[in-house]
Amino acid sequence: MNCFSSLFKKRSASPPRRPTQSCVELDEDVSSIQNIRMYTYKELRVATEGFSPDKKVGEGGFGSVYKGTLKDGTLVAIKVLSSESRQGVREFLNEIKAIAEIEHENLVKLYGCCVDGKHRILVYGYLENNSLAQTLLGGGHSSIQFNWHARSEICVGIAKGLAYLHEEVQPHIVHRDIKASNVLLDRYLKPKISDFGLAKLFPPNMTHVSTRVAGTVGYLAPEYAIRGHLNRKADVYSFGVLVMEIVSGRCNTNRKLPAEERYLLEKAWKLYEKEKLAQLVDESLEGDCDIEEVCRYMKVGLLCTQDMPKLRPTMSTVVKMLTGEIDVNAEKISRPGLLSEFMGVKVDLGHTTTMDKPNIGDTSDSTATARQSSSSEDITTSYATMTFNSIYDRSN
Ligand SMILES: Nc1ncnc2c1ncn2[C@@H]1O[C@H](COP(=O)(O)OP(=O)(O)OP(=O)(O)O)[C@@H](O)[C@H]1O
Ligand SMILES: [Mg+2]
Repeated sequence: MNCFSSLFKKRSASPPRRPTQSCVELDEDVSSIQNIRMYTYKELRVATEGFSPDKKVGEGGFGSVYKGTLKDGTLVAIKVLSSESRQGVREFLNEIKAIAEIEHENLVKLYGCCVDGKHRILVYGYLENNSLAQTLLGGGHSSIQFNWHARSEICVGIAKGLAYLHEEVQPHIVHRDIKASNVLLDRYLKPKISDFGLAKLFPPNMTHVSTRVAGTVGYLAPEYAIRGHLNRKADVYSFGVLVMEIVSGRCNTNRKLPAEERYLLEKAWKLYEKEKLAQLVDESLEGDCDIEEVCRYMKVGLLCTQDMPKLRPTMSTVVKMLTGEIDVNAEKISRPGLLSEFMGVKVDLGHTTTMDKPNIGDTSDSTATARQSSSSEDITTSYATMTFNSIYDRSN
């Protein structure tokens, strides 16, 4: 019996009394949550051996993730949302319902959730091969060999999942946090995008973009990072960065490298201008790939990361470009929006300051000054405003 049905039963069996707030909210939602599996806290505690640290597989901006085994043997990933999520039960369930209804082979499946007191927990299908961040970009800690076929399939799969969220789901979903740790791999290395729709579970004044995760900032489209302008093209930008990582086998930012090598996108652009893009390809792919095809993928990556959002292709076009249905060689590529040009600036969540810093971008869509973003400017801006503190990080 799930926690919802137990509450419901208790209410109808007992004499009339003033129900608790959460009972009222849950009861009102009876018709709308039918398709969501509700788990009890106890059930999930048992599944994770008391949320044992041994069962913890990671921690992100939303909270901790545990590997669990349900009573019927199903392996699940249990995401315990951090207490910053102060959403009401009804609102929470409505968002969960919307996410649970979205099904695609390249999206992680949400099985259900648990609402118990202040606990908000999500239960997902467990993906055996972890994330791209831990495997392909994990610095040799994984035994998985990613040949070119696997990498190209991963790029196309992510693109299809994102195209679905952007163009088929109504209302469309901007993921906001496309990055290697949010691409999970099943046993066949099929990619599944995780964490879509979760941004809506958190208060509007709070961004979930985690600065603790190295490299997160490197995926952010400059217009989103600096001005808080969020739309589908910000995801396209992040996808472009991801493609470059998948092809080169390295993270977008590596502070251990000399300055000119540190930022993948910057390096890619320099090589592209010199017509030496092939130099970026992961050495381990040598002899295993058609270099023209690999360069096509990198050109798609560059098209996606162009400074001007409107020049970036839509995700359905990206799918066609990757699969060769649209010829990328016919496309003119303009320089990428390089947030690394602002990277001397410390990221500070929640503080909004004006920062005067010359912009070396060459398009009118860029701004010379990072300003407080106004959500009324653009409705898609409403969730997060990631801004920069004007204090320069002198450790760089
Ligand atoms: N469904 C899942 N199956 C297997 N492992 C998972 C699953 N979901 C998450 N994980 C693991 O848990 C880790 C933490 O995930 P989580 O989404 O909380 O953080 P993140 O992706 O690093 O950052 P963010 O909060 O910005 O998404 C992931 O890197 C992944 O290894
Ligand atoms: Mg995640």
